[in-house]
This record gives sequence, C-alpha cells and structure tokens, in this order.
Amino acid sequence: MQVLDEPRKVQELTEAWRCAGERIGFVPTMGALHAGHLGLLARARAENTRLVISIFVNPTQFDRPDDFQIYPRDLARDLRLAEEAGCDLAWTPTPVQIYPPGPPTVVEVAGLASILEGAARPGHFRGVATVVTKLFNVVKTRRAYIGAKDWQQAVLIRRLVADLLMDLEIVVCPTVREEDGLALSSRNVNLTPEERRAAPVLFRALQWGAAQIREGRRDPEALRRGMAGGIAAATAAPLDYLAVVHPDTLEPVPSADPPVLLALAIRFSRARLIDNLLVEP
Ligand code: PAF
Repeated sequence: MQVLDEPRKVQELTEAWRCAGERIGFVPTMGALHAGHLGLLARARAENTRLVISIFVNPTQFDRPDDFQIYPRDLARDLRLAEEAGCDLAWTPTPVQIYPPGPPTVVEVAGLASILEGAARPGHFRGVATVVTKLFNVVKTRRAYIGAKDWQQAVLIRRLVADLLMDLEIVVCPTVREEDGLALSSRNVNLTPEERRAAPVLFRALQWGAAQIREGRRDPEALRRGMAGGIAAATAAPLDYLAVVHPDTLEPVPSADPPVLLALAIRFSRARLIDNLLVEP
C-alpha cells in the first residue's frame, strides 16, 4: 500500500489508474477506523480494481474546538487496518494541504445543511461539503462509499454531487452495530462505562418506533414521545433532536407513512452520538 500526503501526487496516481482502465473505489474517512469503515472498505474492494482511503480529521466540520481536540486519532493503527483491508493507496493530507492559507472557498448545500444535524451543529455541513468536494477533486474515483449511520450526510453528499455535476456515484452502505445494537462510531470510545451501558437504548427506541409504524401508528408526535420516553428511562443525557422525517428530503412528515426515517442525536458527556432507522414500505 502506498501512503501519500501531497494532493498532486494522489491526483497523478489515481489519474494514471483511471486512464489504464482501473475502477477506483474510494472511502473517505476521518480515521479511528472501526468495523463500520472496514465494511465500507470490503465492499469497495469487492466492487473495484483499486481501493483508496483518505484519512483526514477535517477541522472545518467540527462546530466545537473541544470536540475536535478529543476526536480519537491513531494513524499507525489506521494504516495497518487499511493495508489489511486491501487498500492500494492511503491519502493522509495535512490541514494546510487541504486548506491553504488565505480566505477560503467554501461549498454550501442550501436547505439540507441547516436542518437536524445542521441546526444542532452550525457550519458542520459547510465543512463536510467543502472537504468532500476537495477529496473528490483529488481522488479520480467514480465511486465513493459512505455509511448510512450519517444519513443526512449521505443525502447531502448525493445532492452536492448531483448539483455540481460530478461524475461520481455515492454508494451508501448499511450501519454496522455492536451486538447490543449500538451503532459503531469513532466517538463511542469517549463514552463513560455507564453511558456505554445505557447507549443501546438508542437503537431499541428506534426499533420500538419502527415497530409502532409497522403496526399502523402514524402520529409522528406520539412516536416521538414514546421513543423519547424510552430513552429518558435509561439515561439523563439530553436529546438534540428526535425526528420523524422523509428519508430523501429530511422534512418532518405529517403522517408516518413509510418510507419514513427515524433519526436522533444525543449528547453524552464527552460524545455526541447519532443514529437512525429507515422504515420501508
Ligand atoms: O463521515 C466522515 O467520516 C466524514 O464526515 C467525511 C465524509 C470523511 C468528511 O470528512
């Protein structure tokens, strides 16, 4: 596996692969790799002839400096896992290579960026949209793989790719969970033991909501109340939001007719977690 930091070198190498007829699968990450990332890498490995990972903790998508500081980092371990996963290239840019000094160019996805996660974390999606545009401009891929746990991010990136006429397919892969249902996240390591014990309630609440919908319950407010009540019984951590929305627009639905997305965010002491569940027709 090659490890490069210079964007120009990554462009040259991936351009050469593309011209040689290789199909490049690309997995953008912020490192701290876990089984969710390994699932993305395995799928991208299986569907393409070259596999590229980027590892970059993107400062502009953190709305709070302390969250950026405590974000887990272990580049040596990440590179080992990336190599074991069959990556041909790991791109590990430095902040200044991604953000040259001076007034920056930013990418803004209107609407989608200011609801749910965007409302709770101002500027977060401007950071995501800007960095993925740069990553996609450097890695000459036609297929990028991202996880469904960050559902709103996936919808927003698909919109960005469509709006900016990028020649790219976004492949969204299912959320990987611990045995007790907790969605894998790099942030889980920042849970206290007590919070870790309580955290599976998030998925249980989502499953409860989904079961209610399948049984014909349609009132979004009653669903929200029921899910929030279940979570409050297990933890005092405050919910940022608990939403019953359309999976494409992420707008609240007047009636929970499938397809509908149940989505939530909760603030534990040192880790803010998100999760979601799609209820299909
Ligand atoms: O999902 C992530 O890890 C990040 O938001 C991404 C897409 C790599 C952009 O920094």
